[in-house]
Amino acid sequence: MLLKAKPTTWQKVDSDTVVFFVSETAWKKELGELDRAFFSQVILHAEAQGFTGGLGKFFSYPMVDKTRVRRVLLAGTGKSADLNIYRIRKVAALLVKQVRGLGSVNLALSLTSEPVSMLKTAELVVGMTEGLFLGSYRFQKYQAHRKDEKLVEVWLLVSAARLEVAAQAIEQGKLFSQATNYARDLINEPPSLTTPTYLANEAKKLAKKGIEVEILDKKQIEKLGMHSYLSVSRGSEEAPKFIKLIYKAGRQRVVIAGKAITFDTGGLSLKDSKNMETMKLDMAGAAAVLGIFSVLAALKPNVTVVGLIAATENMPGSKATKPGDIVKALNGKTIEVLNTDAEGRLTLADVLSYAVTLKPEAIIDLATLTGACMVALGEEIAGMWSNNSQLTANLQKNAEAAGEKVWPMPLEEEYRDLVKSDVADLRNIAKNRYGGAVTAALFLEEFVAKIAWAHLDIAGPAFEEKETPVNPKGGVGFGVRMLLNWLKSF
Ligand code: BES
Ligand code: ZN
Ligand code: ZN
Repeated sequence: MLLKAKPTTWQKVDSDTVVFFVSETAWKKELGELDRAFFSQVILHAEAQGFTGGLGKFFSYPMVDKTRVRRVLLAGTGKSADLNIYRIRKVAALLVKQVRGLGSVNLALSLTSEPVSMLKTAELVVGMTEGLFLGSYRFQKYQAHRKDEKLVEVWLLVSAARLEVAAQAIEQGKLFSQATNYARDLINEPPSLTTPTYLANEAKKLAKKGIEVEILDKKQIEKLGMHSYLSVSRGSEEAPKFIKLIYKAGRQRVVIAGKAITFDTGGLSLKDSKNMETMKLDMAGAAAVLGIFSVLAALKPNVTVVGLIAATENMPGSKATKPGDIVKALNGKTIEVLNTDAEGRLTLADVLSYAVTLKPEAIIDLATLTGACMVALGEEIAGMWSNNSQLTANLQKNAEAAGEKVWPMPLEEEYRDLVKSDVADLRNIAKNRYGGAVTAALFLEEFVAKIAWAHLDIAGPAFEEKETPVNPKGGVGFGVRMLLNWLKSF
């Protein structure tokens, strides 16, 4: 899809379809103010069809002659008072679906019309761009016969004064969407393809994009002392790969780590078939990290970023770790493994310990860690645990701008005893069955020393069971845009 800003108006453009954004209840007035004569027929027909201007409502009207515009499309943005980037992204994503059936391949979006002209240009255009690119994502590689018709040209019509800012915003929106869609692909690919070795090879490709890439194999991981991580891979034939990515810039340094269980069977604490169905998603954290690094050289944030991915399968092979086994993590703490399905925290224990040795300003981890987090916050919201309130506030602000939902959760000291073991320092499942997402976070905190850290449990929003306007079914690429926003703020 070609997307460009053009310093012209809807009267002068010769696209197949021109889109006007209008608000609920005020839409007639808004169109009247644009051009009463031109829109009088459109308004009559739209009204007769029950068009309201409500969020995500569309009305299409063919203009047969007297104009080069073949179709006018009204796009409802809801009540104008609280119009924001989140709703713009959603309307743009719905627009993609709307025009798919119309046979339109060339669209012009009038951004000089109310109510969108009220928004800041950068915000508006980033939202539009992301909505268009994220909304047109499809994973159809394995469906030869299903080729959805694609938009080929979209022009954003802006005033000359807004052109420069709009062009930059398009570039950012494109980069953020590309990174997100790449993460989606990694999650959606079948799990026997996306092995730890596959992820390592994807990481190696980033070397061409200005990223330093280091891959540690099993021997090197052993030598470092990451026995907790390795205990997860013991039941698998696939070799574990520890992936380290570095983007160098600025004096400050942060670590972004992603859980990378390329398939989670549960190990000997085997999942039932229903719960195992979607477990290719268990590397969504790592997919987000790879997505982020795929655009860092182009985005050029002013901060050094280290990406860490401890990739492995979790399988119930004959060498698999058994409930009751005790393993020692890189930071010296011992862990009694009582449930081999609580494997994410075992890999992250070593990843976080390793991150601490790099002495970064902050550590962020993204992990599809617990079903309990989905019980607590549902499928759309990630839980966020942090030992630093400023980091929490920062991340939440950047998530909001990205259209991603995170909510702060407590590191409750009273619960810490629940992850203490009788025979080792820690146990990998809590002593009781409540607050499982909180006790998982408390377990992770044992490995971050005193460094500012935020843990994002993305078990819910990582994978969409049903299509939403912006997110397709399957991998979402959650966390990519919020963290790119955050890195950009350094
Ligand atoms: N990968 C799962 C968590 C998960 C579940 C992510 C559903 C996405 C959707 C994780 O490894 C796991 O199995 N967690 C257990 C922990 C329990 C054994 C303490 C869980 O949540 O049931
Ligand atoms: Zn598991
Ligand atoms: Zn898992």
